[in-house]
Order: sequence, then C-alpha cells, then structure tokens
Amino acid sequence: MKRDILTLWNLSKAEMDALFASAANWKRLRREGKLAQPLVGKTLGLLFDKPSTRTRLSFEAAMVQLGGTPLFINVKDTQLIRNEPIEDTARVLSRYLDGLAVRTYSQDLLTALAKWADIPVINALTDQFHPCQVLSDIFTIIERKGGYEGVKVAWVGDGNNVAHSWINAAAVLGFDLVCACPKGHHPAPWVIEMAKRACRGSVRVVLDPLEAVKNADVIYTDVWASMGQESEAMRRRAVFAGYQVNEAMAEKAKQDVLVMHCLPAHRGEEITAGVLEGKNSVVWDQAENKMHMHKAILEAFLK
Ligand code: CP
Ligand code: NVA
Repeated sequence: MKRDILTLWNLSKAEMDALFASAANWKRLRREGKLAQPLVGKTLGLLFDKPSTRTRLSFEAAMVQLGGTPLFINVKDTQLIRNEPIEDTARVLSRYLDGLAVRTYSQDLLTALAKWADIPVINALTDQFHPCQVLSDIFTIIERKGGYEGVKVAWVGDGNNVAHSWINAAAVLGFDLVCACPKGHHPAPWVIEMAKRACRGSVRVVLDPLEAVKNADVIYTDVWASMGQESEAMRRRAVFAGYQVNEAMAEKAKQDVLVMHCLPAHRGEEITAGVLEGKNSVVWDQAENKMHMHKAILEAFLK
C-alpha cells in the first residue's frame, strides 16, 4: 500500500526517528563522497503552484543524487488551470510517476490528489502545513543538541503552516513547544486540540514572546506574510511589530539557543540581520538538511 505524507500525523514517532537516522546517514555519505543510488529508474513529480527555492531544489537534487529523475511540473502549465478535475489529474500522473511532491494552497486539494493517486503524495507546503520542513529542522536540532527530548522550542510570530507542523511534531515526538503569536494570528484551534489530545509533550500558545523564549533551547520564526498573503503584508507588519526576533529577545533564551528560520527571511521584519547572521543561527544548516531529509523520505516512500 502506498503511503503519503500530508501532515506529520501520517508518521509515527518510530518512523520519524528512522527518518532522522537515515538523513544523518545520507549526510555522512555525501560528506565522504560516497555514492548510493537506491532510486535508479524512479521518477518523482514536483507539482508546484507556489514559488520555491529550497524545497524544489533540495527534492530535485536529492532525487538526482539517489539515481532517480525529478520532473518539475508548474501547475500553471497543466490542464489543472483549465479545470481538469483533480481526480483525473491524480490518476494520470500515477501512470507516469513513482511519487509526487506537491506545493499548493489548499490542504483539501492535496488530500483529494492523494486519495485518487496510486503513488505516494508528499506535502511540499500548503497553506496549512509544511511537514517536510519541520522534519529536517528537527534533524538539525538533533545534530546540535544530541536529541529533541527535553528540548523547549519557542515559536515566535504567525501561527501559520510551519507552526502547525511544529505543533504536530511536538505531539508525536513529545517535546515542549510554546507559540507566541499576536491575537487573531494564533494557530488553528483544531490543530492545537488534536495535539493536546495526543498527550505527548506540551503545546501552549501565549501572547507574550518574552514568556515563550524564556529558557528556550530553540527560537523559531518565519515570515509575517506567507505566500498568498502578500496583500496583507503592510497590515501584518504593524500587528507583528512586537514579535521581531532581535538581540534583546534572543538574550532571554538559553545562552546556546538555536535560532531557526525556514527561510526566505525578511531582515528587519520577523528577524534582525544581526540575529539571522549571528553565532546562534543555524539557518544555513537547516537549508542544507532539507536535502538530506528529502533523501531519507524519498528512499523510505518511493523504493
Ligand atoms: N523553506 C522553504 O520551504 O523554502 P522554499 O519556499 O524556498 O522552498
Ligand atoms: N510560511 C511561509 C513558509 C515559506 C517556506 C509561507 O507559507 O510562505
């Protein structure tokens, strides 16, 4: 039976732990210049309806280095924009491809694609979730901290797609997550409810960013206006003004706090240039690790 990653609820703790170990192995092999190609003859489609630098390129590079072939499909060049039904598209793509990574707006559209596709469908970002991002980010935390157990993660900013996947991860893996978000921009209540019901780890939402970052091992932030919210950018800059990750805020966390950002970053908005480029920042490792994690995912789901 094919398996999908539509949200992190599709994976168990044991499966995530296996992916972290596999990503570490792929990273080591690349450092040692060793070639392993378990995906020779396999083809991954990348059906994207939003821009991407890291996710697209890291999936493509991962696929090539594993011996397979990535095929980039801009939604705007397909018959989807002329209203070909999603169920027809999914069944046709399944006849050509061995897996499909999808970046789109609607999580429901992704779910429908996965329902009709016979091949694994991987969420490469929707308005609601960004599961592969958070898997590679936790791999980065494991590299730096030796594990995620007992780690306190502070999310500062918008309760958005990346925040939602962090909430899922905290519930499945069992670490402590505090989200500091302004009123009106909290994570979706049903996402928090589901996490609380799972009873592993703790998830809290607060208004005060300083309360969240106090004694944090990780401070994570993301853009204030996500893709598709461009028209709200100006209004959001005012709402989020007190949520900038800056030097004064970072000082309240542990001395060896990891500052994380999925990128792209807007220096001077959600994070200062000094903190983004500072000694606690691990953003470039995060970007690199997306490729190692995508290798782990592709090997596990496409082989
Ligand atoms: N972090 C991330 O998903 O970046 P891209 O939008 O460039 O893929
Ligand atoms: N929340 C951001 C993440 C970008 C990787 C967005 O959806 O645009």
